[in-house]
Amino acid sequence: MRARDCVRSPMFEGSVKVLLLGSGELGKEVAIEAQRLGAEVVAVDRYDWAPAMHVAHRRYVVDMMNPRAVKSIVRRENPDAVIPEIEAISRDALEDLETEGYFVVPNARAVRIAMNRLELRRFAAVELGLPTTRFAFAENPEEVFAACEKVGYPCLIKPEMSSSGHGHVKLESSSKNAAVEAYSYAVAHSRGRSRRVIVEEFVDLALEFTVLAYRYFDSERIVTEVCEPIEQWRYGEYHYIESWQPPRSDPGVLTRAVEIGRRVAEGLGGVGIYASEVFLTKDGRVLFSEVAPRSHDTGLVTLVTQELSEFAIHARTALGLPVPRPRVVSPGASLAIYTKIGDAWSPEVCGLREALRIPGVDVRIFGKPSTYPGRRMAVVLARGTSVEEALDKVRRASKLIEVRAPR
Ligand SMILES: Nc1ncnc2c1ncn2[C@@H]1O[C@H](COP(=O)(O)OP(=O)(O)O)[C@@H](O)[C@H]1O
Ligand SMILES: [Mg+2]
Repeated sequence: MRARDCVRSPMFEGSVKVLLLGSGELGKEVAIEAQRLGAEVVAVDRYDWAPAMHVAHRRYVVDMMNPRAVKSIVRRENPDAVIPEIEAISRDALEDLETEGYFVVPNARAVRIAMNRLELRRFAAVELGLPTTRFAFAENPEEVFAACEKVGYPCLIKPEMSSSGHGHVKLESSSKNAAVEAYSYAVAHSRGRSRRVIVEEFVDLALEFTVLAYRYFDSERIVTEVCEPIEQWRYGEYHYIESWQPPRSDPGVLTRAVEIGRRVAEGLGGVGIYASEVFLTKDGRVLFSEVAPRSHDTGLVTLVTQELSEFAIHARTALGLPVPRPRVVSPGASLAIYTKIGDAWSPEVCGLREALRIPGVDVRIFGKPSTYPGRRMAVVLARGTSVEEALDKVRRASKLIEVRAPR
């Protein structure tokens, strides 16, 4: 394929169409960027009025783990690019669609490998030889204790497939009973019916990076580029809390992180963005952890820091357009807002009057129709003259913002 040169009007014959499988807050930004480039956008998710649906030309609500449902929508729409925007999508559907000739961004194999912790470790640690935490696999209660003993303590047991830290259990010391119990918990929280788990060495983190690497059509070849690493801190939680750019780490560490991001993107191939999660441990190791073959929540910060956000990059790659490496043009930070309230429909995001009085602060409200405890509903972004100043602004603004159930 060659880089695209023309884009016709959306909603007419010959339009350039992208179909998002997953329509969350990250998909919403990708949809906006695709719309800005004149594309026709179709948003699909398992619930109605998911964030990207608010900015799409059409929307579908289906069970995305159901291969027939996914395939029938893609065939009906016949898009130029299918963009998986979440992890929980039928991999059989993506593989069949790719075989039929659909362009799955970045490609179906990458999506399959990235959603499966065991396949991903085999790919990254064994095939590519990248540094990772020590690990072992287990597929029954008998094997799990041996796997923990091999890896050492503390260790972390994770289901083969899950996201947002679901089913992760930390073991502090050697105990067969605790290992078997942890195994049962992990398996019960796995996506699908897998009985397999990975046991990972639990490392003492100094910092985490998200390394955005992407591949795009440049005339007649595919080029790989890597952005400046994003730094992030989770305060011991599994989900993302703060991220910032430009990075402040030692240049030698950053070079190693960038190299990991590049090798993962080149190894998985295709065209699109990859977000590699990389650990910096307190003893100075730089380790590959996992990769999302799509935009990443910590990358929301690029909306205020880079010439092209990760969403603009992803949209351009999917549309077959060139994407020169974006510079970081301002220090910036992001901070995610999670709800503390219980289940509620049409929640309110309040405190905007004071939060938005802080110069350089911006808020992205995702527009989710309902909430539950711990659901991410918005993100605070800020630019500053330094990362410290930007972080100070998002922290101050986030304290003013509150998600409430309507009275
Ligand atoms: N082996 C580990 N040692 C220390 N912390 C870890 C380890 N694995 C994961 N974590 C922490 O948990 C977070 C989520 O883990 P991750 O494997 O990325 O799961 P998920 O797929 O749910 O995002 C990481 O970003 C990191 O903060
Ligand atoms: Mg992760």
